[in-house]
Amino acid sequence: MKQENDINSEMGKLVEASWNPFDPDFLINPYPQYELLRDQDPVHRTAFGNLVVTRFDDVFEVLRNPNTSVDRDNTAEGMDRPEHIKKLQDASMDRPPSILMLDPPEHTRLRKLVQRTFTPRGIEKMRHLTTEIVEDLLDQLAEKREIDLIKDFSFVVPFVVIHSMLGLPDADMLDVREWSQTLVQTLEPNISPEQVDAAIWGGTQLNEYLTEALAWKRNQPGDDLLSDLIAVEEGGEGLTEPELLSMISLLFVAGHETTVNLIGNGTHSLLNSPEQFNLVLNDPSVDSTIADELLRFDSPVQNSGRLLLEDMELSGVHVEAGELVLTALGSANRDPRFWGDSAHVLDVKRQDAPRHVSFGSGVHYCLGAALAKMEGEIAVTKLIRRFPEISITSEPTYNSRIILRGREEFPVDLGSPK
Ligand code: HEM
Repeated sequence: MKQENDINSEMGKLVEASWNPFDPDFLINPYPQYELLRDQDPVHRTAFGNLVVTRFDDVFEVLRNPNTSVDRDNTAEGMDRPEHIKKLQDASMDRPPSILMLDPPEHTRLRKLVQRTFTPRGIEKMRHLTTEIVEDLLDQLAEKREIDLIKDFSFVVPFVVIHSMLGLPDADMLDVREWSQTLVQTLEPNISPEQVDAAIWGGTQLNEYLTEALAWKRNQPGDDLLSDLIAVEEGGEGLTEPELLSMISLLFVAGHETTVNLIGNGTHSLLNSPEQFNLVLNDPSVDSTIADELLRFDSPVQNSGRLLLEDMELSGVHVEAGELVLTALGSANRDPRFWGDSAHVLDVKRQDAPRHVSFGSGVHYCLGAALAKMEGEIAVTKLIRRFPEISITSEPTYNSRIILRGREEFPVDLGSPK
């Protein structure tokens, strides 16, 4: 199978800018295509009928424009949707939408309620626990040597962290992972009818688990996020039980399905860049910048999108209200117009890396950004410093997702622990 570097070296052969998520090369390494799109067709009409913008300034402007919408009623309106997509949308209509799919003022009201419980102090409290979780896991892995970096490490860290932070009851990690993986597939534009059925099933399972967890937690409140959110609901401040469930579900799924790819993509980038790997190994000053640079270099969330409610000028192109515009976060993060000539270079000491748009921008800016960065920093630096001989056993496979980009299986040999 081709790898990222093969596709980079084929770059000169690409001539026509296109955005084709069915192209296996695009899934392995979308960056050469992004470059063509930015240079030749920065406001590109995709085969799905929507537009995609790939330059940093356009992505930033669309995300921050208040005259845009993410409301599922607006975004579905007037679209010619295949039957299986209608089925999926109908199945989700009996639950309140998550804040990701709500516009102000509804979005503002709900976000404020959860933001109050999701404070920087609360996140900082998680640093100690995250360090413990990572160190325990590395102790266990030291006995194995050959592991799948995704299944055995990158997934486990954020899963256990968000599980503990919410204060959820014990559950079979692999079952819950399966439900949540089927569910996040619904974010992808190329979802198949079979995946729709699996997502409806996964969503139902997850909903049952979280509904039971909620009832259990009401009887045993603790020092955790779920108890805090229940207190907000019981305080009568406008969070209904279905809204509470939808919020927990988003926090739980967003809490691990993205960070798994920060750790997996980030470690892969470092293993392909020995000089940067050695910096991480020997220079603790990188700890403050590493997570942002790994997020910038290979963004775990590659696209977001907005429906325009007013006309916009994007890279000199007039775009009319009513267009659905995908914002290619991963491309914006590599745009030399913004980052200069080093846009494609991994530099774990890059000072302006926090300006990346991997967490979006504007009112929907990721609520878990500080948590994700803390987890990414601890997981990647501790892994490398504990196992300085870590090496790739065979090249990873990719998860075939164009929104949540990540490695599916990533076999590594940890070597001897330090
Ligand atoms: C590396 C990890 C992560 C990445 C790359 C990421 C990325 C994003 C992005 C791009 C958005 C905005 C989507 C849009 O504009 O449409 C977002 C929103 C959100 N994220 Fe994250 N996320 C990560 C981790 C987390 C974690 C750990 C949590 C929670 C525990 C979380 C919770 C949320 C929530 C609740 C929203 C919705 C915010 C809103 O609509 O106001 N995320 N995330």
